[in-house]
Amino acid sequence: MRLMNFPSGLSPGALAGLLAVLALPGRLGATALLAEKVTGPASCAECHVEEIEAWKRTKHNQTLHELPRRPATAEMLLRLGLTKVKGERQCQDCHFLGQVIDEEYRTVAGIACESCHGAARDWLKTHGDYGPGAKQATETPAHRAARRVEAAAAGMITRDNLYALGAACYGCHIVPDEKLANVGGHPAGSAGFNLLSWSQGEVRHTILHTGNRSNPPATPEHRRLLFVVGSILETEFCFRAVAGATVKAGFGVTQARRADAARQLLEKIQALAPTPELAGIITVARATGLRLNNAAELTAAADKIAALGREFAARVTGAQLAGVDPLLPGPDADKGKPYQVPGAP
Ligand code: HEC
Ligand code: HEC
Ligand code: HEC
Ligand code: HEC
Repeated sequence: MRLMNFPSGLSPGALAGLLAVLALPGRLGATALLAEKVTGPASCAECHVEEIEAWKRTKHNQTLHELPRRPATAEMLLRLGLTKVKGERQCQDCHFLGQVIDEEYRTVAGIACESCHGAARDWLKTHGDYGPGAKQATETPAHRAARRVEAAAAGMITRDNLYALGAACYGCHIVPDEKLANVGGHPAGSAGFNLLSWSQGEVRHTILHTGNRSNPPATPEHRRLLFVVGSILETEFCFRAVAGATVKAGFGVTQARRADAARQLLEKIQALAPTPELAGIITVARATGLRLNNAAELTAAADKIAALGREFAARVTGAQLAGVDPLLPGPDADKGKPYQVPGAP
């Protein structure tokens, strides 16, 4: 499936720059991938067999073939005056993984590894290189540590940077495009999305650290962190969505309500497990008007929330958040069924 051929004389890099400047609708800028840097899920398969198996069973993978066939898709495209969902710039970044192969843009997967862990071209080699003559088992701890720092600097997103990893989800699951919702009839986002419940069901793939033996649920401490970090991200991305609201119709009203609920939840969390970062976030969120045509103020607030959210995720541990346990959804709320590693107890 082709999105476009690159015009002659314009390199893929230059085109990417141009596209970034044009700020086309779709997934929010900060979380969208550069197709020139995507290597595709096959480039992970050699070393991540079980993760691929887990992913294959998710809607994120299945949507590649399913979405284009849904009647709702055709109706939406018609209302928006578009023809195909695959390759359509306004849909592509949230529904599929695009990769430039031989200077041509192609849809290579549904929502895949790099959609969450970052486009891999600049970090793939470093990530899989254990040092001269070394295998994974014989790699020195110093080499491993240096490799991880280098891969992160080149754009790899792991749970060491939980805020950025979670931002990938919210960048797609909260839809910031007013026209898409009001004209196209697209949902304004996934109702009830939260990082904890939605990452612990069918999306869960915490297999590697068990030596590929099982796919265990998050520890109670990590569940708290996923919940609170997710709640901060919800606030950030709802504020970004309200920033795009210009008319008092479905989209603007839905996003403003959701943003208000998000900041109220942060206040509940702060009352149970206070931290200085969250205090700062609440101050910003409270001082900002959830109004139509207020893009500059709302975006500036979202940027401040993001900066404090990153500090929160880097400093605060789940052990410090025991107070929030009464607010946590239980495992029965996990979205979908987790993958079972064959032979796991
Ligand atoms: C040459 C083998 C190899 C390839 C190819 C590979 N990985 Fe990995 N990956 C590993 C190993 C080994 C680990 C275990 C942790 C470590 O040593 O970095 C790992 C760990 C990870 C982690 C967890 C890191 C952390 O610190 O939490 C992620 C995420 C990951 N890989 C994603 C990917 C993605 C996405 C791709 C494809 C774009 C990929 N890997 C390709 C070998 C590989
Ligand atoms: C900002 C990200 C984003 C963009 C851009 C986007 N979508 Fe979606 N879309 C989603 C998410 C997330 C869902 C799942 C919503 C849910 O959980 O209910 C979805 C759901 C859908 C559904 C199922 C809706 C239903 O009611 O069952 C269709 C059809 C769809 N999208 C089509 C499109 C088309 C066509 C475009 C481009 C014109 C597009 N999307 C652009 C994120 C996006
Ligand atoms: C929908 C987003 C998403 C997709 C798609 C995704 N991951 Fe992940 N991945 C995550 C999240 C979130 C975590 C951390 C979970 C946590 O902190 O509990 C993670 C963790 C990991 C880990 C570390 C697991 C451990 O045991 O420590 C590896 C390895 C990994 N991912 C590799 C992959 C590979 C390979 C693919 C593609 C087959 C992939 N991921 C697809 C979001 C994703
Ligand atoms: C590139 C955009 C994108 C990213 C990144 C993304 N998602 Fe999704 N996700 C979607 C879309 C679109 C759907 C709906 C697919 C469909 O229905 O065909 C979806 C569906 C899901 C579903 C299945 C929902 C259901 O109705 O059963 C879960 C669970 C989920 N996502 C969790 C996550 C989590 C957790 C993360 C981050 C770790 C994440 N997603 C990252 C776009 C994305």
